[in-house]
Amino acid sequence: MASAILGSTVLVSFFLLLASLCDAQLSTSYYDSTCSQAAQIVQNEVTNILQSNPNLAAGFLRLHFHDCWVNGCDGSVTIKSTSDNTAEMDGNVNFQLRAIPEIDQIKAAVEAECPDTVSCADIIALAAKEATVYANGPSWTVALGRRDSRVSRANDADTQLPFPVLPFSGLVDNFANKGFSAREMIVLSGSHTIGHTHCNGIGPNLYNYTGQDSLTDTNPNLDTTFADDLKNTCPKGNRFNIVDMDSSPNSFDSGYFDGVLANKGHMITDDELIRGPSGDSIVQSLAQPGSSWYSEFSAGMAKMSQLGPLLSPDGEIRKTCQVIN
Ligand code: HEM
Ligand SMILES: *[C@@H]1O[C@H](CO)[C@@H](O)[C@H](O)[C@H]1NC(C)=O
Repeated sequence: MASAILGSTVLVSFFLLLASLCDAQLSTSYYDSTCSQAAQIVQNEVTNILQSNPNLAAGFLRLHFHDCWVNGCDGSVTIKSTSDNTAEMDGNVNFQLRAIPEIDQIKAAVEAECPDTVSCADIIALAAKEATVYANGPSWTVALGRRDSRVSRANDADTQLPFPVLPFSGLVDNFANKGFSAREMIVLSGSHTIGHTHCNGIGPNLYNYTGQDSLTDTNPNLDTTFADDLKNTCPKGNRFNIVDMDSSPNSFDSGYFDGVLANKGHMITDDELIRGPSGDSIVQSLAQPGSSWYSEFSAGMAKMSQLGPLLSPDGEIRKTCQVIN
């Protein structure tokens, strides 16, 4: 009898535990009772930062992508390397990642009001949305409750994020690995309507398109005047010069898609969007005024922001975003 009661108690607790684990998910009300002002603080801080440097909106958006794509949205992208660990941010694919100091600035403002409560991963997710809205792009709902990881490895970034030399099929595979369709890949690539790229990402499109590594091994699809202009800004071997993503780098508009359609894609992967099956017609339709691009972008970002998050009781709430507790 006693053992039967004990048995059923164990069973009931097991199911309660199971239920609470299944319950563990992101929620828009996650900080309502612990830090109801969290989203507002992030919005104020992002607005202040972008008022003096509007171009950094792109930095926040790329940072969130690079966080989520590598083992989920867990704040691992802002962890600094140590003497015995090369962290994600020092991976090749994270070349010239921006906005990490600013994430810590926002984190400090949140810590001042709600110590040890709001994760860096949530702050990165909120900041990306606020930055996109600041650039006149679409908004999306950011569910909260991500926890910060204690692990960050450069090799994970370099094996999970896409390099700018992939063919269309490689881009499709990279996104499929994370559960995203070819269309979602194209929709989200529209992020390249804001910000800039360094010559590092452009070089292979200009000087190594077929692996010949020469001054004339240029992507033959490119508009020749555009390619010549890029070569002026990005002489062979140069990695650090900067090129705007499109003619309106602070504005989330169709300028990037228009450029790609005009054979003015900066990276091989930008140009490839219109070389794969149906890519061309997808880009054309997304670029139309009043197209579904914004609503699809919002849905895509909300989906990306839910990628494999670490949930309580796993992970931690980091005190500063560049160092694990
Ligand atoms: C499809 C595959 C993609 C590749 C190969 C790729 C690659 C790159 C590269 C090489 C840069 C230039 C970085 C630099 O030199 O400063 C860049 C910038 C950027 N990427 Fe992507 N990207 C991809 C998709 C995405 C997605 C899905 C997003 C967001 C959802 C995104 C957001 C951005 C933003 C906003 C910038 C500008 C960053 C800045 O101005 O600091 N990218 N990307
Ligand atoms: C050029 O491309 C080839 C083949 O993709 C690659 O092995 C080589 O490292 C590239 N060279 C440079 C300078 O990027």
